[in-house]
Amino acid sequence: MNDILTHVADGVLTLTINRVEKKNSFTPAMYAAMADGLEQAKNDPAICVTVIQGDITVFSAGNDIGDFLQRKPSTQESPVFLFLRAIASHPKPVIAAVCGPAVGIGTTLLFHCDLVYAGDNAAFSMPFVNLGLCPEAASSLLVPQMMGYHRAAEALLLGEPFMAEAAMEVGLVNRILPPTEVNAMVQAQARKLAAKPLGALIETKRLMKKGQMAQVLAQVSEEGESFARLLHEPAAKEAFTAFLEKRKPDFSRVS
Ligand code: COA
Repeated sequence: MNDILTHVADGVLTLTINRVEKKNSFTPAMYAAMADGLEQAKNDPAICVTVIQGDITVFSAGNDIGDFLQRKPSTQESPVFLFLRAIASHPKPVIAAVCGPAVGIGTTLLFHCDLVYAGDNAAFSMPFVNLGLCPEAASSLLVPQMMGYHRAAEALLLGEPFMAEAAMEVGLVNRILPPTEVNAMVQAQARKLAAKPLGALIETKRLMKKGQMAQVLAQVSEEGESFARLLHEPAAKEAFTAFLEKRKPDFSRVS
């Protein structure tokens, strides 16, 4: 599909989020394509590493907000949850190249990547509460673990954005580069990994992740139940409608 471009070279699968006119926001078909790509990478012994990249101006604006109004994910088999389980449990290395805004799942998917390289224009945000929603992708577990509780509360309760420097300080980002250099750096790192023995990479990642893999998958599932319920609440409807009408939400109307 054109909204997710796939390219395989030198043992590296590159998934490019390519819906720039809508700021790379994700539709169900895009989640499905991402999940399919990861499944292909998992099963194909010739693929050692997956790269996820967006555009130089925007990584992803998160879930498509029109879809949140019209095509809500309703079961754990919805494409977004297939994608989240696929990336959370992916056995081989995943590297992200992030430039510009990374909103919602655009940020939370990064907690499941092994390496993250960011442009100095990268801006991360998880504004779930501002949309009447709750965290997803096990971010309610992983963000406090990585940032400490109080910084996590700023990011998840206030929904405040943070820039590349702050993301590097808390350990979410490995390195900050000029945006024009990020994709090349990520491809170089991917090729370095692809030249290593795959069995050793897989075993090392498994050992690093195994301590809390079951907890992460359980958190993805529990958050998914809450998220799906909140999507139907009036606060979420007001937030989505306000975004599409290009106005500020008025939650006094709904509480
Ligand atoms: N879903 C659907 N459409 C989206 C979108 C989203 N998540 N994010 C952006 N778009 C659309 C806009 O509606 C606009 O469409 P239009 O040209 O038809 O009016 C277009 O993409 C450009 O967006 P715009 O807001 O004008 O770009 P910007 O550069 O001023 O801001 C963002 C970029 C990413 C900061 C801003 O678009 C944004 O905050 N998006 C919503 C993020 C969000 O809340 N996501 C859900 C997280 S759970």
